[in-house]
Amino acid sequence: MSEKNFNAVTLIRKKRDGKKLSAEEIEYLVRAYTTDRIPDYQMSAFLMASFLNGLNREEAAALTGSMLTSGIVVDLSDLQGKKVDKHSTGGVGDKLSLILAPIVASCGVPVPMISGRGLGHTGGTLDKLESIPGFKVDITLDRYKEIIGRHNLVLAGQTEEIAPADKRLYALRDVTATVESIPLIAGSIMSKKLAEGIDALVLDVKFGSGAFMKDHADAMTLAETLVGIGEEFGKETIAYLTSMEQPLGYAVGNWLEVKESIESLNGNGPEDVMEITHLLAGTMIYLGNKAASTEEGIEMSRKAVQDGSAMQKWIDIVEEHGGDTDVIIDPDSYRSAQFVEPVKAEASGTITEMDAFAMGMVSVELGAGRKAKEEDVDPAAGFILYKKIGDSVKAGETFAELHTNKKDVMKTAKEGMKRAITIENRNVKPLKMITHRVDKDGIHEYPG
Ligand code: URA
Repeated sequence: MSEKNFNAVTLIRKKRDGKKLSAEEIEYLVRAYTTDRIPDYQMSAFLMASFLNGLNREEAAALTGSMLTSGIVVDLSDLQGKKVDKHSTGGVGDKLSLILAPIVASCGVPVPMISGRGLGHTGGTLDKLESIPGFKVDITLDRYKEIIGRHNLVLAGQTEEIAPADKRLYALRDVTATVESIPLIAGSIMSKKLAEGIDALVLDVKFGSGAFMKDHADAMTLAETLVGIGEEFGKETIAYLTSMEQPLGYAVGNWLEVKESIESLNGNGPEDVMEITHLLAGTMIYLGNKAASTEEGIEMSRKAVQDGSAMQKWIDIVEEHGGDTDVIIDPDSYRSAQFVEPVKAEASGTITEMDAFAMGMVSVELGAGRKAKEEDVDPAAGFILYKKIGDSVKAGETFAELHTNKKDVMKTAKEGMKRAITIENRNVKPLKMITHRVDKDGIHEYPG
């Protein structure tokens, strides 16, 4: 699109007054900002006006498109088959990418996966991958194409070439209180995913205490916005709303989660982890045209775990990325934190609630996440849960085990974990892990 010269003040005023901007006007703002022709203060005003008045579906798609075309869009058209990725809006203990990517690739669907680092209380796939000794996520575009061509799977970090406008806008949103806006979040996520060279996308939109969207209705609006943008760009997009009311699985922390994903690929995964993994993997297999339905895809996903083909794919991809496969074959032989201590329940009863956000913050305190952008994470730090919502505990019984290399944080971390659980003398219903599917035809209760 050839760029017209608009007046930034006029566009800010238009959005401030609740009017709709055209795709050209949004394109101008993003282009001019990323080429330093609009200063931070004007872009901040536009972001706040968008935050307060919202962006409709066309505006969100225009924003996504301008951020997408600020960088390169990887061309994987030489590679046979429909390329399908998955994105999660983030949570605590969310190691699903590590399990489903090799499952889906072993079923013949190419998975180009560009992941991020931990953000706030949530973990990130890149930090988890880097806890495997030798595993390299910083690769060139040529290498990216070479790896996916060879294995149907590549696991990489975001490069400077992918959606650079999002990087600048995200940094500005971070310091102008404009992060928590559904269209801005959706545009940010989709601009990066659409740059990967995908044909279709599965989204895991989390709700609950450990999610960015605590509220189910907000998560639903985010899911609808993400699906709308995907479809606008001609990519089949299916989203599921899944529970983040407690950490996923039992392990939280980078290497601890890699270990749990290895157990999962070996057929011993936690029930909640495997329920969502098989659904997302099955949907990806269906979108990749290797199954006639999601249900058939789920069956193929289960089989890939049972017959060991997903595990073999995982070993191959770890080796290709320079990782040490001995620790994948024998994870207990490798890496443990210097200080490992139990956390004991203070009362007897049933665990009725877990504050997954607070638990995520405990994992950051232990060293598994970052308090400042430039900090390194400690791959060995985190915690293992022994109990989850609905389980009964006795006073003095261990419900979690903390792992850290920083002895001085142990006391506050234990207190944080104790505060994060609610023990009562009543029973609770099992959590419903998946509530809805959102696709181009609308919102459907899950299971239907
Ligand atoms: N993740 C992103 O990539 N962008 C956002 O705006 C929020 C979460």
